[in-house]
Amino acid sequence: MSVLLDVNSLEVYYGGIHALHGVSLRIHEGEIVSIIGANGAGKSTLLRTIAGDKEAKSGTISFQGERLPNASHAVVSRGISLVPEGRRIFSNLTVKENLKVGAYSRKDGKDSIAEDFEEVLELFPRLRERIHQMSGTLSGGEQQMLAVGRALMARPRLLLLDEPSLGLAPIIIDELFEKIQQLNRLRNQAILIVEQNAFLALEVSKRVYVLKTGQIVREGLACDLADDPSIQQEYLGLA
Ligand SMILES: Nc1ncnc2c1ncn2[C@@H]1O[C@H](COP(=O)(O)OP(=O)(O)OP(=O)(O)O)[C@@H](O)[C@H]1O
Ligand SMILES: [Mg+2]
Repeated sequence: MSVLLDVNSLEVYYGGIHALHGVSLRIHEGEIVSIIGANGAGKSTLLRTIAGDKEAKSGTISFQGERLPNASHAVVSRGISLVPEGRRIFSNLTVKENLKVGAYSRKDGKDSIAEDFEEVLELFPRLRERIHQMSGTLSGGEQQMLAVGRALMARPRLLLLDEPSLGLAPIIIDELFEKIQQLNRLRNQAILIVEQNAFLALEVSKRVYVLKTGQIVREGLACDLADDPSIQQEYLGLA
């Protein structure tokens, strides 16, 4: 399998706070990979740095074999799309308008954008039912689906999801994660998921990295980590 994203020795600071210490990770084509870790471990910082939202002091990020510029939103047009923590859709735009905004940076034709629009609505039928509704009046789960749908409208090679389960009822989480897996199967979509809910992360992903106070302390196949007593104790709350 070829490497899609190659992150090497990232060092990231917020002023005097050293948020990421030499973080390295890889994602292959078509893989679902998760990052688990406690509050403040640096998970969002890592996604934001990959997405070009946050500057790295040093280290490199390569995507499809090419080095990405540091802290530049040009990464969106290269095929990386982030759904940030807390959704951040435009609440005073309709569902349809939000989805159109997602395709903003695309340079391919109207036809393929229309095709993807249709595909997103097929994946999330609830969005079709609410297509003209103001996005701010959607339920939390519907807003999360819209946030994912909007990211897909950029037709990313790599989708970055920051805490997609946050604030959602268990049944909606199941539905959303089923869609995420469907997307991976149907489109061979590569996805990097950040989750505090380690159960979910281990269930849906192939490989997992464990981030602790800004450092990767473990990595491995999800099935191996799920069986590991120290992971069970620390991240799954099992004795
Ligand atoms: N804008 C900022 N300014 C200063 N410090 C920040 C900023 N954003 C994050 N940090 C700090 O960097 C560290 C990592 O934060 P980050 O948001 O990446 O953690 P996280 O793993 O996503 O946590 P959570 O699970 O709570 O979302 C924390 O100590 C946090 O306080
Ligand atoms: Mg976070």
